[in-house]
Amino acid sequence: MGASRKPGMNDPQLSLALGNLSLADSLLGRRSIRRFSDRPVDPGIIERAIAAACLAPSPHGSSPWRFCVLSSEESKKILAEMMGRDFLRDMEKEGLSEAERTRRHSGSIRLLTRAPVLILAALSYAQLDEYGDPGKQANEYMMAEHSLGAALQNLMLALTAERIGTLWRCAPLFCPETARAALELPADWVPRALILAGYPDGAPPPKDPPQPEVLTR
Ligand SMILES: Cc1cc2nc3c(=O)[nH]c(=O)nc-3n(C[C@H](O)[C@H](O)[C@H](O)COP(=O)(O)O)c2cc1C
Repeated sequence: MGASRKPGMNDPQLSLALGNLSLADSLLGRRSIRRFSDRPVDPGIIERAIAAACLAPSPHGSSPWRFCVLSSEESKKILAEMMGRDFLRDMEKEGLSEAERTRRHSGSIRLLTRAPVLILAALSYAQLDEYGDPGKQANEYMMAEHSLGAALQNLMLALTAERIGTLWRCAPLFCPETARAALELPADWVPRALILAGYPDGAPPPKDPPQPEVLTR
């Protein structure tokens, strides 16, 4: 397991790289990519994207996001296989046929092990406020979840700006303890999502234009 280190927020390369594409290009260009080419991704690109993620707003400025970058075949395989066992067990409980369980399981393993880089995103609630009221506490934690969404969108837009495709996978949300154990993460890290990253192998299918549902008063 590699040592943790914070990406440099003042890295001049960050603003340079983020200037590669306009905001509009990144917003329109970010799509869920499920097929990646074998072309390796420069670790600097991942560092800059994580620095961009850390520009997101967070409750009380607590910066609750944590990241674990997996680029080795071994670490990707360990995570995919350990989460895969939980996935199989859950699907069996839900009554899916064996053929369907096998299909979904092997698809998941293939996707995770073939992506050039996996970025596991976790939350630490350690810096958040504590309340006696369980409802208020749940909302406090919810704010961290919102903030993770903002951070991950920053991350994906920053990667798009450097022509890297991404896919948000929700798997760790369903088995946080397993993901934490697989990667030997600190005890206060709660795994929440996995972002797959790599150069796209082909373009995704076109997307319908957004249809916002907005009321005005
Ligand atoms: C919270 C969240 C969880 C997601 N989980 C998965 C997932 O587990 N597997 C997957 O293939 N896509 C996942 N997606 C991607 C969505 O399917 C995708 O964003 C959506 O279909 C719209 O397509 P686009 O990203 O190309 O705009 C997830 C997206 C979000 C925001």
